[in-house]
Amino acid sequence: MKLTNLFYGGIHVAFVNENYEKLQDSYLFANIAQKVAAFQKEHPDQKIIRMGIGDVTLPLAPVVVDALAKAVAEMGHKETFRGYGPEQGYDFLHQALVRYYASFGVTLDTREIFISDGAKSDCGNITDIFSDANTILLPDPVYPVYYDTNVMRGRKVLFMKGSPENDFLPMPDDAVQADVIYLCSPNNPTGAAYSREQLEQWVAYAKRKGAVILYDAAYEAFIDEGDPTPRSIFTIEGAKDCAIELCSFSKTAGFTGTRCGYTVVPLGLKRKSKDGTEMSLNKMWLRRQTTKFNGVPYIVQRGAEAALSPEGIRQCRDNLRYYKENCRIIGEPLDSLGIKYYGGKRSPYIWMQCPDGMKSWEFFDVLLNRFAIVGTPGSGFGTMGEGYFRLTGFGTHEDTIEGMKRLKEGLAKE
Ligand code: MLT
Repeated sequence: MKLTNLFYGGIHVAFVNENYEKLQDSYLFANIAQKVAAFQKEHPDQKIIRMGIGDVTLPLAPVVVDALAKAVAEMGHKETFRGYGPEQGYDFLHQALVRYYASFGVTLDTREIFISDGAKSDCGNITDIFSDANTILLPDPVYPVYYDTNVMRGRKVLFMKGSPENDFLPMPDDAVQADVIYLCSPNNPTGAAYSREQLEQWVAYAKRKGAVILYDAAYEAFIDEGDPTPRSIFTIEGAKDCAIELCSFSKTAGFTGTRCGYTVVPLGLKRKSKDGTEMSLNKMWLRRQTTKFNGVPYIVQRGAEAALSPEGIRQCRDNLRYYKENCRIIGEPLDSLGIKYYGGKRSPYIWMQCPDGMKSWEFFDVLLNRFAIVGTPGSGFGTMGEGYFRLTGFGTHEDTIEGMKRLKEGLAKE
C-alpha cells in the first residue's frame, strides 16, 4: 500500500525528511565526545589529553576583550543601546574586512560581505540557494559538514580522492561534471594547502563547467605573512565569477565560543534557475539571510572588528604561533618513531598515518583506553581517511607535551 502523509494507520501524520535516514547516527565530533565522556566516567582520576576537536584553548586577545567590554557598556546606556542590527552585519565590520582582504591583495565591496555566527552554519545554510538537482563534488577526506548538509537535501554527491599520491590535494577531472564544488584550504582535516597554480586550475575548471566553488578559508590565518600560498580564492583571477568564500573568526581569533564568521558572495556572481532565469547569488543570499537570520550580536561584531585591527592581528598571530609550536611538538616524536604525517605548517592539524597498519577507530581506542589521549579518526572524514588520524595543535603546550610523551613512550613499548 502506498503511504501518503494524509492518513497513516487512520491518523494524519507529517512525514519527516527521509534523507536523514542516510546519515550516520551522530555527527563525528558528537560521537567522539560521547565516547570520551564514557571513558572519563569510568576513569574519573585520569587526566585526558584532548587533541580531537579543533577547539582553541588560549583566551581571546586583549584588544578583543576590551572591545567586547566597551560594547557591553554601550548596551547599558539609552544613547548607545542597539536592538536588531542589519542581518548581513554592521558596516564597521564590513569595512574592517575590506581592509583585511586588501592586505592580501583582494578588493571587496562591503555589499559582498555577510557576517554570520560562523563558517559551519554558513556551510550548511548556503545549500538553500542551490537547486537540489545539482551534483556536488567533495574532496575525500572532507569536513563532515559539507557532506552531511548535502545529504540532508538528498543531493547527488561525488568524491575526489585525496591520498599521499596527490599530497591530499585532489585536482579537477574534466570527465566529471560538477555543479557545486567544496574546497577547503588550508585543509581540514589534512592540513594540506593549495598553491596558486592549483587554485588557478580549479577556477578554470569551475568556469568551464559553469560550477560554483564554495571555498572554505577558515584556516587562512595559519598561512604566514610572506608565504605565497593563497589566503583567499579571490586572489585568483576570475574567481569572482565562480566562487563564494566562507570564513570564520573561530580559529583566527579564538572565537569558537564567541561565534562570528563571514561569507563573501561576489556581486557579479550569477547562475540560472531551471527555467533559465539568470539570478544573482549575492541577492539570493541576502534574501535568505534577511528572511532566516537576525544577525550576529553587536557586542560580538565589535570584538571581531578589534581582532582585525593592526594590534588585533598582531595579538591573534601570537596565538596562532603558539598553536603552530604545538604542531612542531607533535611532529617531533612522530618523526623519531618513523610515523609519516602531513600538515602542521600552514594549519593547526597534523594528519598522521596510524602505526602498524591500524585502522582509524582502532587507533582511536588504543589512544583513549591506553594513553587517555583523544584524537579524531581519519575515517570519520571519509573512506580515504581510513588508516589516518588527526591530532590538533589547539591544546596547551603542557598538555601537548604530556600527550606526545605518553604516545611516544607507549608506542615505543608496543
Ligand atoms: C574540527 O575539529 O574539525 C573543527 O573544530 C570543526 C569545526 O570547526 O566545526
